[in-house]
Amino acid sequence: MKNILIIGSGAAGLSLALEVADHAKVTILSKNTLDCCNTIYAQGGISAVLGEDDSLESHVADTIGAGAGLCNKEIVEFTIAQGPERIAWLIEQGMPFTRIKQGNYHLTREGGHSHRRVIHADDATGKAMITTLTTKVKAHPNIQILEYHIIIDLITGTKIGLSTSRCLGAYVLNLNTNKIQALPASFVILATGGAGKAYLYTSNPDIATGDGIAMAWRAGCRVENMEFIQFHPTCLYHPKAKSFLISEAVRGEGGKLLLPDGSPFMQNFDSRGELAPRDIVARAIDHEMKRLGCDYVLLDISYKSEKFIIEHFPNIYHRCKSLGYDMVNQPIPVVPAAHYTCGGVITDKNGHTDVEGLYAIGEVASTGLHGANRMASNSLLECLVFSHTASLDILSKLTTAPKSAKLPSWDESRVTNSDEEVVVSHNWDELRRFMWDYVGIVRTSKRLQRAKSRVDLLQNEIYEYYSNFRVSNDLIELRNLTLVADLIIRSAQQRHESRGLHYTLDYPNKNPVAQNTILIP
Ligand code: FAD
Ligand code: SIN
Repeated sequence: MKNILIIGSGAAGLSLALEVADHAKVTILSKNTLDCCNTIYAQGGISAVLGEDDSLESHVADTIGAGAGLCNKEIVEFTIAQGPERIAWLIEQGMPFTRIKQGNYHLTREGGHSHRRVIHADDATGKAMITTLTTKVKAHPNIQILEYHIIIDLITGTKIGLSTSRCLGAYVLNLNTNKIQALPASFVILATGGAGKAYLYTSNPDIATGDGIAMAWRAGCRVENMEFIQFHPTCLYHPKAKSFLISEAVRGEGGKLLLPDGSPFMQNFDSRGELAPRDIVARAIDHEMKRLGCDYVLLDISYKSEKFIIEHFPNIYHRCKSLGYDMVNQPIPVVPAAHYTCGGVITDKNGHTDVEGLYAIGEVASTGLHGANRMASNSLLECLVFSHTASLDILSKLTTAPKSAKLPSWDESRVTNSDEEVVVSHNWDELRRFMWDYVGIVRTSKRLQRAKSRVDLLQNEIYEYYSNFRVSNDLIELRNLTLVADLIIRSAQQRHESRGLHYTLDYPNKNPVAQNTILIP
């Protein structure tokens, strides 16, 4: 049997594993526990055309509208047409989507959507999805799971002096033993998620360090549209708690955004009010916070009944309550935070990258679906659709793909143990702070240049450190995150306009022709 190496255990990685495991030996790697990923935090749900009054055309039009002219129309149509079938597949795996009394599934609404089309499991869709897929994956005899294994880099034929440029496997650091091993595979899949941790404030968990984007870049893959970092408008403001998302579904079900004095403001920015696409809502909040010098705005759904709120948002209600906010009786304080990486590794319809044998699926990839701004709940849909198309492509090539190659061992002969771990933690903090200050919701050419000078310095320091010392989890992540930050800044510097999630005071208007920002290694 051929070996398939899947790096990442979120929605994308687990779904692909289940689709190929009857025909190949599959290894799934997670750098933490199997359930530690962005997917498990997903709240709102998965968008698909399931309602009787909805249509594929309407979902396509909303996605393209939110994407601010930069979506690939063919990919949008393709993805959205696949939605209902992929949801059916997930239900077959055992996914417990929330039902309304008559037995039909409940559909909620989120920003940018003109219809109710977000299917969900209460307000903890990601948790239900990971539980469902993990149960299946653990029961499959052809699937091996390696937790606490972090991939350091991909191995291509080019890198080890062979005549093929194919991806042949990857080097992995076992975090339990601190040993490094070469893992050969006939197919390698990056399902490593996004890079929210490049920013000081983010809704993402600690694993979101852009490893897949950095590894693909080093292996020779093009990346695109990295400037489009999505800031979710509403994370709970709490000085002591890590960012906790307040789902857009709260606004979808009637939640209102208010200034600290209780006055509404979203209608001043967009006629769709609270349900305008995310880039517009996040920018409006940022504008008001800067104008008034306040630390947060308010989100109020307390005019709905207690029963309604607790039934629709049990997870959010209890989390807020534990932090001292009772959303049944009072508005809650919210702020924007980095949430989603819209750009990434360029792939085709089958999730294939520029390097033979290497696929990228889920948030790590740029398929053309999201353009300059992802519409809410289109991400899990993308994970499902492209894990499926990639699995079909891999299965069609299984018999002709080369067997796993013999790979050279990792060379540690010239490195020693680190004597100054403080360099890593200091650089980590510095990176995330200047990305937040200079490459955030509102940018200027001067701020981007400042960020670029700093990221260049960090990259030099990290390169030197990486060359001289034994690798560790933190060093691997910092090296990747710094490279990804550099790609974000360079992409932002190339875009001389404001479009979607990229807004700069120096070029406040949209160019007449929309173009992708493509970086070539
Ligand atoms: P992830 O789920 O992030 O998984 C990445 C995996 O890669 C992890 O297992 C990690 O350990 C592994 N990994 C990374 N690097 C390495 C390495 N070097 N070596 C080994 N393993 C590695 N989207 C929606 O559509 N609907 C929602 O309701 C929604 N809500 C969200 C709420 C929150 C709070 C957040 C943060 C995101 C939300 N999103 C939502 C976005 C969506 O959840 C993510 O885009 C999606 O889950 C990404 O899935 P993924 O499989 O690509 O990656
Ligand atoms: C949310 O529930 O607001 C998150 C949805 C998403 O990111 O798609």
